[in-house]
Order: sequence, then structure tokens, then C-alpha cells
Amino acid sequence: MKVCLVAGSHRKNSQSLKVGKFLAKTLEAKGIETLLLDLGGSPLPLWEPTMWEKDSEIKKFWLEYSAGFSSADAYVFLSPEYAGMASPALKNFFLYLTGGDISHKPGLIITVSSGMGGSYPNAELRMSSYKNTRIVYIPDHVIVRHVESILNSELPEGKDDEYIRARLNYTLNVLVEYAKALNAVRQSGVIDIKTYPFGL
Ligand SMILES: Cc1cc2nc3c(=O)[nH]c(=O)nc-3n(C[C@H](O)[C@H](O)[C@H](O)COP(=O)(O)O)c2cc1C
Repeated sequence: MKVCLVAGSHRKNSQSLKVGKFLAKTLEAKGIETLLLDLGGSPLPLWEPTMWEKDSEIKKFWLEYSAGFSSADAYVFLSPEYAGMASPALKNFFLYLTGGDISHKPGLIITVSSGMGGSYPNAELRMSSYKNTRIVYIPDHVIVRHVESILNSELPEGKDDEYIRARLNYTLNVLVEYAKALNAVRQSGVIDIKTYPFGL
């Protein structure tokens, strides 16, 4: 089992990355392989149409950048709330994906806010990012509010920290079960990305 996590912040050493590292560590403790991509520390250029050309520079860059990404069984997308939106870096990341990369695999949405926000990126990702990628967002998501005050040390510092750690752990367990279940869907022979590369 392998899970790929994408930290969607534009900032280096972001709070989203902090949460992503906590999730990766939790998964690894369960014996699950992880790959953590940090769009803040290693930014992706804005998608451009030469991505459609076979040997373009940007295509070569992407293939190197995304090595190991499409072989994961499940995905975690972490988005900060920026001006009531999902992070543009994460939306840009979705443009790079093609039909087969993450299709019919489970995705967990984690949103991050330094205050009381975090609902909008969840709604936005659920509304639009699945159409061509065919990611299957699981019903559980986690909104990490007041992110700066939690997940800062080895052990929880207070009730909110304790709650969010337990909730994140629970949601990862749910994700792993969806990963096992959706494997059967992909193996069924019904999925035909070649004939129907784009969702409606
Ligand atoms: C450009 C920008 C816009 C922001 N807009 C919001 C917002 O709409 N709602 C919110 O709750 N927090 C907002 N914040 C604060 C973020 O929640 C906070 O910076 C958080 O740490 C972002 O996660 P990051 O560290 O992973 O980038 C914004 C931050 C930035 C940099």
C-alpha cells in the first residue's frame, strides 16, 4: 500500500506541510509507504499547453517531478484556504494530471486555516477537481482550524490537539479501507479511460 500526499500551500515550511508530515508519519507507523509532494518548497510552474507535446521541456520536468505519484493506491490533498479559495498551486497541480494518473482511487481532502476558515477549499475541490481526474473523494474530510496551535510537538498539547490527532488518524484508517475496496473497481475490467478520457 502506498499513499501520496500533496501539500498545496504556496509557502515554504507551510502549515499544510506540517500537517502533511504528521499524516505521512502516522501512515508510516501503520507500515504504509508514503510520498509527500510539497508545492511550496518545490513549486510547479503554471501549466501551459506545451504539456500536450510529447517531448516538451515542461513535460520532461513534470515526469521527473511526479515520479512515483501515479503508482499510489490513495491520495491526500492538503489545501490552505486562500481568500476563501482552494490554493491555486493545488488547482494548477490538477491540470497536470491525465486520465489514468489517479482515476478511481480514493482521495482525502484536508484543509488548513490559521483561523476559523477551511470550509471553502473542501467544497471547491469536491465540486470541480474530480471531473477529469476521476479521483474518488471519500466522504470524510478534515478541516484543520487554528492550525498554528496544533501538531507542534511529539505529544498533544491540549484537548484540541488531541482531538485533531485522533480524527486525522481515524480518517486515514477510513482512507486505507477505501484504497483496498477501490482496487477491485479498477481491476473489474469496466473502467475505460481510453474511450471516455474526460468526465461530463
Ligand atoms: C493569500 C492568503 C489568503 C488567505 N486567506 C484566508 C482565508 O480566506 N481564510 C482563512 O481561514 N485563512 C486565510 N489565510 C490564512 C491561512 O489560513 C494561513 O496562512 C494558513 O497558515 C495557510 O496555510 P499554509 O501555511 O499551509 O499556507 C490566508 C493566507 C494567505 C497567505
